[in-house]
Amino acid sequence: MRSSVFYGNWGGAYIPEILHQTFAELNGHVRQARQDASFWREYQGLMAEYSCRPTPLTLASNLTRYLGGAKIYIKREDLNHTGAHKANNVMGQGLLVKRMGKTRVIAETGAGQHGVACATMAAKFGFACTIYMGAVDVARQRPNVFWMEKLGAKVVAVEDGSRTLKDAINEAFRDWVTNVDDTHYVLGTACGPAPFPELVAWLQSIISKESIIQVKERHGKLPKRIYACVGGGSNALGAFYEYLDTDVELVGVEAGGLGLNSGKHAARLASTDASAGIAQGYKTMFLQNSDGQMLETHSVSAGLDYVGVSPILADLWQKKRVRFEAATDAEVMAALDLTIKKEGIIPALESAHAFAQAFKEAPLLSPEDAIIINMSGRGDKDIFTIASAYHDPSWQEFIIAKAKEYRGDRP
Ligand SMILES: Cc1ncc(COP(=O)(O)O)c(C=O)c1O
Repeated sequence: MRSSVFYGNWGGAYIPEILHQTFAELNGHVRQARQDASFWREYQGLMAEYSCRPTPLTLASNLTRYLGGAKIYIKREDLNHTGAHKANNVMGQGLLVKRMGKTRVIAETGAGQHGVACATMAAKFGFACTIYMGAVDVARQRPNVFWMEKLGAKVVAVEDGSRTLKDAINEAFRDWVTNVDDTHYVLGTACGPAPFPELVAWLQSIISKESIIQVKERHGKLPKRIYACVGGGSNALGAFYEYLDTDVELVGVEAGGLGLNSGKHAARLASTDASAGIAQGYKTMFLQNSDGQMLETHSVSAGLDYVGVSPILADLWQKKRVRFEAATDAEVMAALDLTIKKEGIIPALESAHAFAQAFKEAPLLSPEDAIIINMSGRGDKDIFTIASAYHDPSWQEFIIAKAKEYRGDRP
């Protein structure tokens, strides 16, 4: 991927003047790191020791048999330390922060996975850490908030706007502007002003650098298609990166929510509801009204309901290099259920979007073909959402009993 500020019509760095110097410094460090082979070696070594890399490429033999058609491989980003691909980005940015000599990190988080990953990185490197999280997401992802705080981070619940990820990003930028000297903003996805889209995509490229070797070893040739869910776009870009110059078909799966005609979804590139706009420091396709006000989005998964999308993906969409599809909440729950029952693997609700689309298409391919589903994270964090969807009475009784126990403990 070429180093750039713009990707076709998309991207840029629309930042306040007070951040110009900070961005100039960050750009310099990113350029240096990319040219310095020792940075990648140090990063790979750290990820091997701390985050179980390389993550396996698992053949889902039961699902393959059950669905018929292509061989289904799963790239296991859930096996990273902290349970998701987010570790790839934060550990890499942590190494950069050390090089920059800064002592404090801030981050936004949606599902809470990036927040936990960032708080973990801060604990390991000894940085002070503040995490901004929309108040709605704080309520949806309470276990992740618990762990961020235990890891030593301060978690700020953002009450502005729709109280989700975009509002958390705005708040993180407000903090950065006043604390530029000692603070680095660890942006969690391949969005925002340059160099973040490229920096995050590059760090996440460790996924496809591994999978391209693994799939050739296992399958003897490149896969037919790769599926990845798309929130901001970081796991998808990481999973696609090394295949961009091949003829492997790349499929990004967005949150179809209650359906693309319902107005309750978060599909920016798979629907016709988004339009070009500039917000949060960059130009991309946003779900916004004709006045440029951001729309409320909906998804069963907290990590896929962002209003914008990586400018790199917007460019690949426009060039038709990546196909975008949407999976509805109902399709996602069905795919999750099937994967749990057939493989004993619990994908995150975000990742289950990629599984849902792959399950629609795999039976139509030949057994000679292989597909890779990028499993961006594990589903343990989603237990409350998943349990409510299952309407499991024994789980409800357990929660009620726990609540009573806590109430009874009070003096
Ligand atoms: C497990 C998981 N997958 C995917 C995403 C979406 O982010 P991205 O599109 O940047 O990979 C998130 C975001 O929180 C996540 O937690």
